Amino acid sequence: MNVCEPLLYAKGEAVTVVDLQALSDDAFARLREPITLGGVRLKNRVVHASITTFYVQDQRVTDRFVDYHRARAQGGCAAIIIEPTAVLSWQVDEPHKVRLFDDSQADSLARLVEAVEAHDCRLIGQIQDSGRGRHRRGRKRYCYAPSALPDDLSGTMPRALTVAQIQKAVEEIGQAAGRMQRCGFSGLEISAGHGHLVHQFLSPWSNHREDAYGGALEGRMRFLLEILDAIRAETRKPFILAVKAPGDDGVPGGVGPDEAAAIATRLAATGEVDAFAFCQGSHHRSLEHHMPDMYGPRAPYDALTAKLRGYVNGAPTAALGRLVDPVQAETVLRRGDADFVQIGRALITDANWVNKAFEGREHELRACVSCNTCWGQVVSGAPMACDNNPRLGTPDEATWTPPATPSRRRIVVVGAGPAGLEAAWVAASQGHDVTVLSRGASYGGKLALLAALPGCDQVSSVYDYQVARGLREGVRFEYGVEAQADTIAALAPDTVVLATGAEMEWPAGWPDAWREAGAASDLREVSALFSGATPVRRPGVAVLQDNDHTAATYAAAVMLAAHFEHVVLATPKAGLAGEEPIVVQQSVQRRLAAVGVEIVLLSEVAPESDLEEGEIVLRNVYSDARRTLQGVELLTYAGTRRPVDDLYAPLSAAGLDVRLVGDAYAPRDLLTATAEGHAAGLAV
Ligand SMILES: Cc1cc2nc3c(=O)[nH]c(=O)nc-3n(C[C@H](O)[C@H](O)[C@H](O)COP(=O)(O)O)c2cc1C
Repeated sequence: MNVCEPLLYAKGEAVTVVDLQALSDDAFARLREPITLGGVRLKNRVVHASITTFYVQDQRVTDRFVDYHRARAQGGCAAIIIEPTAVLSWQVDEPHKVRLFDDSQADSLARLVEAVEAHDCRLIGQIQDSGRGRHRRGRKRYCYAPSALPDDLSGTMPRALTVAQIQKAVEEIGQAAGRMQRCGFSGLEISAGHGHLVHQFLSPWSNHREDAYGGALEGRMRFLLEILDAIRAETRKPFILAVKAPGDDGVPGGVGPDEAAAIATRLAATGEVDAFAFCQGSHHRSLEHHMPDMYGPRAPYDALTAKLRGYVNGAPTAALGRLVDPVQAETVLRRGDADFVQIGRALITDANWVNKAFEGREHELRACVSCNTCWGQVVSGAPMACDNNPRLGTPDEATWTPPATPSRRRIVVVGAGPAGLEAAWVAASQGHDVTVLSRGASYGGKLALLAALPGCDQVSSVYDYQVARGLREGVRFEYGVEAQADTIAALAPDTVVLATGAEMEWPAGWPDAWREAGAASDLREVSALFSGATPVRRPGVAVLQDNDHTAATYAAAVMLAAHFEHVVLATPKAGLAGEEPIVVQQSVQRRLAAVGVEIVLLSEVAPESDLEEGEIVLRNVYSDARRTLQGVELLTYAGTRRPVDDLYAPLSAAGLDVRLVGDAYAPRDLLTATAEGHAAGLAV
């Protein structure tokens, strides 16, 4: 967000220096400019990318679905591409997609249109079917694809579509487009990437047809070209027809950048595509490229987008992919790499992303962490949620201001992690008198430890926002305070919020003598020790026993690999990162492989290990087979945590009103910590 520092971006071999003077005159001059797509004017160049929310129920529009989109329209977006609707009659079993293969939802969709378009924000639908693709455990029972070839992730075997079925699908899509326009939509986007059905047709990897819909590029594109024709036949212009095309699907033998350029060229030649976006990844090991995470660079696909933009015959092209802050988005446009931006996750985290930027309030943004919790939620079938936005999908999300309290109360918050800090600023913003007592010398709690690990610095934006907001609202912060029941009581609080977090438990079955001798430490202590140290690879082995399976543990393993010649990660489970969604698992596997961490599944450190001699025995939890590691310099563990709630009983006994939040209530995750902190701050 800092517009004062030189912004240097690598773009292929060349480095482009952005004109800082121009930036500081009107930081968002390009983002602010109107743009016309297919004859439809957008008031600025920020478009909400399509996001499946799981707010739809039983194929019906819900209040939360409307609220979510209204908030982003109020927040300043020029257009919103909503999630895919059910446009094909075979999608009848997909309850999270609004039904559009008949007229039954026309009224409720008109309600959505009104809620969004009333804010001079264009509502755009999306057409998508995932074909053989599946992101969850298990396999699909019924699905269709160009060829009877298994999904690369789930192994789902589809039925190959007959020509008659393809033609019916094309017809149904055209009719659904007509329905959308009659409901008041300003356009639609065809999802032709991400490994979904249209992409399955485009890719020689998944399309082995020998009829008119397979073979050379023209054949593989036929399905998409016929869809374009059908939509144009059933709608009247102006009606934005956009394509989310593959940029690089990351599948050998699939759609790489050259094939993507050929597809873009052919699409542009139709003259019917009003806007392009290029997306990455497929239903494959490259799935993680859909949503680039915090461990990689920001805007990682910008150079590829700039290249592909050269093939679309001047059609407006969106930059897409980890555009987190507005300066970055503006910079992409100024470099001429794209004509407008599509923003996904950053708009989930802050509905007012656009308004805050345009009103000079970008320092007030709650920033997307690129952790992909949102995606994990929806892929598990749960309504979308965000680690850094506890108000996501509430009726007044964009306009909410904390209610002023009629009676100012004294609140003491113990703990300066994300739960405590959230409770503190929310309580103070209502007018309460709030003091935060932190044992640590600073704020952030255990999350600050995570932020110091490789690639994790973005998580600091969670607590940076909370503290900045707290300071503005008058919260007093006291650091280095070991809070005791009597010292807290002496502050005469009306309410105490205990947000004291959790501690790792000593692994079951490990000898107490090891603990007494300090022979093994928990991964947090080890992280604190090493993350500030110069990474010099020392000889010897570091062994990490992983009973935790969250992303934080693997970030620490990557850090250890910078300090030890060899890192062995042992887990009693059959896989890694079991607490994380598949895209995070892929990212974890890739990063561990890159630094050479050895993974030993179904194994745990056996108590007969001789730590003094640097000898660790790994025992297979099923076969009991043993393997001995020599030269072990470090043994660490991550696993079960217990709440630090010791103050709860004495404070309650003293008659105080005590609220436990976050991990101090029960160890869970960041999502729960911010949500509970927010609720506690409102309820004091
Ligand atoms: C929770 C979630 C749901 C998504 N659902 C869809 C979808 O239904 N259709 C689609 O084309 N893209 C979907 N995407 C991908 C986004 O549109 C976008 O391409 C991707 O998140 C990269 O943009 P970002 O870095 O700005 O988030 C989804 C992404 C997320 C995080």
